[in-house]
Amino acid sequence: MSPPYRIRLVVTAGLAMAGVAIASDVGYRADQEPGTPEQIARGKSAFVTCSGCHGVDGEGRVGMGPRLNSPSYLASVSNDLLATTIREGRAQTNMIPWGASLGEDTVTDLVAYLRSWQTTDGYALDTSPLKGSAEQGAELYQSICSRCHGRNARGYAELGSGTGIGGGAFLGAISDGELRLLIHKGKDNTPMRPFDKDAPTAVANLTDEEIDAIIAYLRANAW
Ligand code: HEC
Ligand code: HEC
Repeated sequence: MSPPYRIRLVVTAGLAMAGVAIASDVGYRADQEPGTPEQIARGKSAFVTCSGCHGVDGEGRVGMGPRLNSPSYLASVSNDLLATTIREGRAQTNMIPWGASLGEDTVTDLVAYLRSWQTTDGYALDTSPLKGSAEQGAELYQSICSRCHGRNARGYAELGSGTGIGGGAFLGAISDGELRLLIHKGKDNTPMRPFDKDAPTAVANLTDEEIDAIIAYLRANAW
């Protein structure tokens, strides 16, 4: 295991004037290595391709593209997940694969730019096997999650406000550890509130086992 990165990016005046978001003193998880100032600057230029759906500063656009500029989202997910999502897209959604048209270097630059929006230390991953059954998860999913993510977890395609979290492309790319974190912690600055058993702002407080059951349900029913 390599140690987490704790770095203070040194800002040049030019980058600051170009408005590149600067993460200072963020403890990145080992799979969240931050980019160089050059990569971040190139990623910012490349992001014009993305802003029509994800917003000029990655703030997201309702029904078009989720928020990327969300500290708890970035603290949960790995660079690998971000790169795979950009490279391969999400089948059956408007997130098409960008790898072939942009090239791998630009995908890496974009990941560096997204990562530069992280303001919170990376959250610790729980990689233990899932506890909880898909049957229990079905009930919880339908009573709590479906009103925003759709009864079949197809998200926008079912006129949901949330993304298509039951998609095979999404579930194939994301680990249980990352999914656990997104559900426990939620996605800052979006309607995706935390579901942790201790979260004071939760719509519902779920136990670790209940969260695992929902993940098992989604995986058993991937479209
Ligand atoms: C035509 C609209 C559109 C464009 C352009 C677009 N995306 Fe997306 N993107 C989406 C949608 C829609 C999703 C969510 C799909 C789903 O899972 O339901 C998404 C999901 C994502 C995600 C996962 C985030 C999350 O919370 O689910 C990342 C990362 C991402 N896009 C990055 C990019 C980048 C980088 C670009 C530019 C190269 C880009 N996207 C261009 C529509 C778009
Ligand atoms: C009040 C509406 C709402 C409820 C209820 C809700 N979500 Fe969400 N969820 C959202 C929205 C909206 C997003 C995307 C945020 C954005 O636009 O950036 C999201 C994002 C997510 C993501 C990240 C997906 C991705 O594309 O990266 C996961 C995972 C998730 N939700 C799981 C769940 C689960 C599991 C439940 C039930 C326990 C649930 N959500 C309940 C609205 C909701």
